[in-house]
Amino acid sequence: MQYQDLLIETHGKVAVIRLNRPKAMNALNDNMMNELGEALYAFDKDPAVNVIVLTGSEKAFAAGADIAAMVNYDYQETHTNNYIGRNWEHILNVRKPVIGAVAGYCLGGGCELAMMCDFLVAADSAKFGQPEIKVGVTPGAGGTQRLPRAIGKSKAMDMLLTTRMIDAAEAERTGLVSRVIPAEKLMEEVVAIAQQIAEMPVSVAIQIKDAVNQAFETTLSQGVRYERRYFHAGFGTPAQREGMNAFLEKRKPNFEGL
Ligand code: HXC
Repeated sequence: MQYQDLLIETHGKVAVIRLNRPKAMNALNDNMMNELGEALYAFDKDPAVNVIVLTGSEKAFAAGADIAAMVNYDYQETHTNNYIGRNWEHILNVRKPVIGAVAGYCLGGGCELAMMCDFLVAADSAKFGQPEIKVGVTPGAGGTQRLPRAIGKSKAMDMLLTTRMIDAAEAERTGLVSRVIPAEKLMEEVVAIAQQIAEMPVSVAIQIKDAVNQAFETTLSQGVRYERRYFHAGFGTPAQREGMNAFLEKRKPNFEGL
């Protein structure tokens, strides 16, 4: 499949989707978000793919929503035609793991999109920020909600109100990203991480992702009950048979197709 604003690669069971509007620092516009939804759904249902990586360029994961496209929007365009809601959140419906690989600027809507990934790995060049206030708007794709959940209220308020960017080291220290990698090795290492996950049973990866996301939507006891159902159901699956028998037989498990 060919896209205007995305580049696609596959590495075995890992699909890499690269945001690609180099002239505009990957500013996110309607076409790119429509294409991103299409690509994500196509890989989510492709049995040859177990894990998706979402990335940008060396300079920018994405410098935000496209300001040139938004500048003349009015209330009708945004509210009635459901700007953001219409095409930005397809990623939340993807069942397989989505890893965000961030180098360079990851700002505004770019940071919000990154935070919709299951986890983030940053290049040491990454810079995260929510500068929307400087262009006269609030965040609109979850920045005021996911950022405080990720890094705590004080840091989130600081970033959202002052527009201060944080670097990769601060992002890792605060829990926004899981690992920091030298920029020149980012994609090699993220693909290796994704391949490690892709060797696991995709059915269980889907369940773990769903259960972790419940942690942000429910009470602790409801969340634990939710997890317990998946755990019990696991004893009716070939992945459990293969995983536990392989351990006891001291061999590598083969989760192909599971
Ligand atoms: C449109 C953008 C853009 C953006 C950069 N460009 N960010 N175009 N929308 N968000 C364009 C520039 O206009 C410029 O085009 C080209 O990309 C290169 O950018 P420069 O500014 O020349 O590069 P540099 O000096 O290196 O500065 C990089 C930067 C800066 C720090 C990332 O571009 C910047 O501050 N960008 C805006 C960041 C921002 O405010 N993001 C939040 C947007 S609001 P030309 O044609 O001049 O070469 C938002 C709302 C989200 O995201 C709410 C809903 C999701």
